[in-house]
Amino acid sequence: MNAIRSQILKHTMPTRQHLTPELWLRLITPACPLWAAPAESSPFQDPFWAFYWPGGQATARYILDNSEIVKNRRILDVGCGCGAGAIAASKMQAKHVVANDIDPCAILVTKMNSKMNECNIETDIRNFIGSECENFDTILIGDMFYDAEFAEILFNWLHKLVKKDKLILIGDPGRHGLTEERRQQMTLLAKYDLPLESCMENNGFTDTALWRLNKS
Ligand SMILES: C[S@@+](CC[C@H](N)C(=O)[O-])C[C@H]1O[C@@H](n2cnc3c(N)ncnc32)[C@H](O)[C@@H]1O
Repeated sequence: MNAIRSQILKHTMPTRQHLTPELWLRLITPACPLWAAPAESSPFQDPFWAFYWPGGQATARYILDNSEIVKNRRILDVGCGCGAGAIAASKMQAKHVVANDIDPCAILVTKMNSKMNECNIETDIRNFIGSECENFDTILIGDMFYDAEFAEILFNWLHKLVKKDKLILIGDPGRHGLTEERRQQMTLLAKYDLPLESCMENNGFTDTALWRLNKS
């Protein structure tokens, strides 16, 4: 883990150039050599955690502006990436927060980002998709509808959880996996323009949104 930590420190930098400037996040930014380097020269395979995805930005922004949505709740941030959703929930007085990702680098950078923002967040590397999530009443999903097949599995699972009274918050900029039919089963809570740097990273997306999955 120490070797991965050194690589993260070498190739990322703390930044506040995003929709939640209250939070320092260690990311690959345009000032980092890896930003423009060919994928083969990266020491990381698929470093999703090194970018703050528009869906995650909407999730964290909404939480920071509407603390009542997480206050005293038990939060699971599934696919936490850099950990921003979990960090925002922790800052806004959630009762218990677990940042979850199946990528060990995401878990490590979430711990680093959590510390940088003076939070102490629990992490969990297990795959929760399909599980009952008994220990949680709120599930955060930041930008996970990027693949049609995975979106189907994810949405079916979230649908089961919402029927069991879990609050499901989905941050998404309009990925193809969040189809019109699925959007009709959700309530739009907020829409945000993306900062310029995020637009550069996400060619095509200029705004992002937070949705709540409806119970019926
Ligand atoms: C597109 S990134 C979004 C990261 C973060 N939520 C954000 O919005 O910035 C998707 C993340 O989901 C993670 N992931 C993929 N499948 C997962 C699973 N079954 N359980 C937990 N995390 C998963 C990936 O490792 C990646 O970090």
